[in-house]
Amino acid sequence: MKALDVRIRKVRKGDIDRIIDIERSWHHLSHWSIDSYYRLLNDDSFTSSFVAEMENENGRPNIVGFVIFHIAADVSEIYNIAVESSHARSGVGHHLMAAAIHESSRRKASKVVLEVRKSNNPAINFYLKFNFRIAGERKNYYSNPVEDAYVMELEVSD
Ligand SMILES: CC(C)(COP(=O)(O)OP(=O)(O)OC[C@H]1O[C@@H](n2cnc3c(N)ncnc32)[C@H](O)[C@@H]1OP(=O)(O)O)[C@@H](O)C(=O)NCCC(=O)NCCS
Repeated sequence: MKALDVRIRKVRKGDIDRIIDIERSWHHLSHWSIDSYYRLLNDDSFTSSFVAEMENENGRPNIVGFVIFHIAADVSEIYNIAVESSHARSGVGHHLMAAAIHESSRRKASKVVLEVRKSNNPAINFYLKFNFRIAGERKNYYSNPVEDAYVMELEVSD
């Protein structure tokens, strides 16, 4: 594991600005409104979403990534996962996804599902590394630009 000093913790309201900064820095991601983020944090079923923190040069914790997911019945759906580009490929995403899978399993989900742009090879490779499999496709699922999605899923057990 390369990112040794990553701390994963539950998301809090004060994290929203940083989450939006990171989300907006990736142009291919679907952008949520600020209201959507606030609604999410008032919804108990989302409160397991996580952020990843690393110390900045001043020794202060700085959010470098997040994963937002929702568990309903026995299905856990990853809505968004992103790592600040300057910290990509250093293991932060791995920590976040491992935490989301662990929490999904702890809360009795039997599978974790997500959609991903067909052209998003870094993310597809990332999910494959966690043993997600391509379970289907959704035509024209994304806009700006319009693109199909792969539906990927991972069976989990506790
Ligand atoms: C996808 C994303 C969250 C991965 O996070 P990350 O911290 O960069 O990933 P990690 O360093 O933990 O990588 C874990 C493994 O995933 C795979 N992987 C990650 N990035 C990859 C890339 N750019 N190309 C190929 N494989 C990649 C590798 O197998 C990697 O293991 P390795 O470095 O030992 O080879 C990150 O690239 C990101 O934020 N992308 C932009 C947002 C996005 O597209 N999110 C997905 C929306 S569906």
